[in-house]
Amino acid sequence: MQLVHDTAALDAALRPERVRGARIALVPTMGNLHEGHLSLIRRARELSDCVVVSVFVNPLQFGPNDDFDRYPRTLEADARLVAAEGAQILFAPDVAAMYPGGYPPATTLKVDGLLNQVLEGAFRPGHFDGVATVVNILFNRVRPDVAVFGQKDYQQLAVIRRMVLDLGLAVAVESATTLRADDGLALSSRNQYLKPPERALAPKLYEALQAVADGLRSGRRDFDQLCATARESLEMQGFRPQYLEVRGPDLAAPAAHLSRFVVLAAAYLGSTRLIDNLIVESVAN
Ligand code: PAF
Repeated sequence: MQLVHDTAALDAALRPERVRGARIALVPTMGNLHEGHLSLIRRARELSDCVVVSVFVNPLQFGPNDDFDRYPRTLEADARLVAAEGAQILFAPDVAAMYPGGYPPATTLKVDGLLNQVLEGAFRPGHFDGVATVVNILFNRVRPDVAVFGQKDYQQLAVIRRMVLDLGLAVAVESATTLRADDGLALSSRNQYLKPPERALAPKLYEALQAVADGLRSGRRDFDQLCATARESLEMQGFRPQYLEVRGPDLAAPAAHLSRFVVLAAAYLGSTRLIDNLIVESVAN
């Protein structure tokens, strides 16, 4: 596994792969890798001959009150994990290498429409602009045939798929299912912020999503009531939910005739913001 920090070294590492006609996969990450990321790398290996993992904590996607400064940076451990998973290249640029014209960049992508107005888009203004901008830069640098993202960030995945469509990018976007701890908590680098009592409580977020999913599967279509009950139950247990909503697969408002829904939530537990979602298949009665 080659660890490279700038575009010239990345190009040099990729050149022989391109010459031999290798199919290249990219797994973009912000590092602090856990089993969830490793499952993305495994999926990328299945889909390609050469896997590039990127590690970059992208300041452009963090708001002023977000956790950019305290986001865990563990490159040495990440490099060991990436090598053990059999990826060929780890691209870990710093801000100057990622944004060579200076930071903040003068040119960014703007995500518009429903995808940027609801859920994460509503609560994290500018976040998806930052994500789309950096993922587009990574696509330009790596020129992957395929890129793999986690379903835990369901809305991010939708934003990236739409960006690929809108900008005519020649990258196949693949997703991998969310990995969970034994108690149901979705794996996330941010889980380590949780104090022990918060960690014990955290799986209740998944339970709240499951309660809504059970309601949908039993034929209920009173979306607002279902979600209000789940939100109240989270509040009673000490969460501060930002949203808990049922949406259609495209994140539009749900309609009773749909047979596929997504239940999505974001909630604070102490100072930690958790997000999670569940995809629900349910034919109405
Ligand atoms: O999901 C993440 O870790 C980040 O949003 C991504 C896609 C690596 C862009 O910085």
